Amino acid sequence: MKQITLLLALLTSTNLLADVARGKAVYTANCAICHTVNGGRALGPDFNIVSYTRKKEEIAQYAKDPYSNYTKFGYRANAMPTLPLEDQEFKDVADYISSLQPFKKWMIKKKS
Ligand code: HEC
Repeated sequence: MKQITLLLALLTSTNLLADVARGKAVYTANCAICHTVNGGRALGPDFNIVSYTRKKEEIAQYAKDPYSNYTKFGYRANAMPTLPLEDQEFKDVADYISSLQPFKKWMIKKKS
């Protein structure tokens, strides 16, 4: 019990819990119509998979400006709209998406 309290205090102090919770709300309101999180099918890729293949920074970058990034991310066309959200909201939603696969994301190979 003591350990759990300590862990929660640590997570809260690093703002990790808060960002993930806020990011989930951003996801539900702005992304869920086009992106599933449970391996489902929708217009955009499932975020559980994205969480394996992309770093948090890349997710925030694409979410903020898909039009400038789609060729870099390997797409031949861009169907995702540019969403009118705050920078912090893009960071929070990227935190949430990354949190879907907390261990696998460390296995992403660094580009040489
Ligand atoms: C209207 C549908 C739509 C909405 C809403 C939408 N997306 Fe997308 N998203 C797409 C599509 C389609 C793609 C595939 C590439 C493209 O068309 O730009 C995509 C691609 C992505 C990618 C790149 C994934 C990869 O690794 O290849 C990320 C990251 C992403 N979206 C994040 C978000 C986030 C975060 C939100 C909400 C804040 C969001 N999207 C809202 C349709 C959408």
